[in-house]
Amino acid sequence: MSFVLFAHVLGTALWIGGGLSGLMFDAAARSEPPAIQMRLLRVLARLHAVVIGLGALVVLGSGVLLTMALDTDGLGDLMREPKLWVMILAGIFAAFMVLFVSLPLASRVGALAAAGSKGDIPPALEAYRKRLAVVSTISGGLAVVALLAWYVF
Ligand code: HEM
Repeated sequence: MSFVLFAHVLGTALWIGGGLSGLMFDAAARSEPPAIQMRLLRVLARLHAVVIGLGALVVLGSGVLLTMALDTDGLGDLMREPKLWVMILAGIFAAFMVLFVSLPLASRVGALAAAGSKGDIPPALEAYRKRLAVVSTISGGLAVVALLAWYVF
């Protein structure tokens, strides 16, 4: 199971690191002219799919495998620890937010940015971009709660 544990921690790093980078990237892009912002938003959409989405999927998949192996690994007592359940529940909720809300939003942002003209940023793109930032902040915050629960409480 050590490889699965490695994948679990690597997925966490991709997810939280990618999320923070995405938020900083979006904030920094705002000072660029609209045509450049549209290009940067296409990169942001890719970051969501390739780094954050992949990280969340790996954390979820490896987390399920680790949970199923707890008993056979002689770690069944962990099941009585609230910290494990906080991690699992916060992690599942946050991963579902990434996979079923953030990723569709990011692909909409990418598609609108690709279709955009060189003029101003379309209002629909601005709205999806803001929604993506809010959802990413909440799901990333929950991932940090999962991490805190495991290590601090
Ligand atoms: C963003 C969400 C999550 C984060 C940040 C996270 C983080 C971690 C970390 C840092 C560890 C400890 C690794 C170690 O001791 O070396 C761990 C262990 C574990 N995680 Fe998660 N996790 C998350 C979500 C989940 C989910 C959704 C599940 C189950 C579906 C899960 C199940 C487990 C289990 C069972 C262990 C104990 C493994 C063992 O000691 O054998 N985790 N997690």
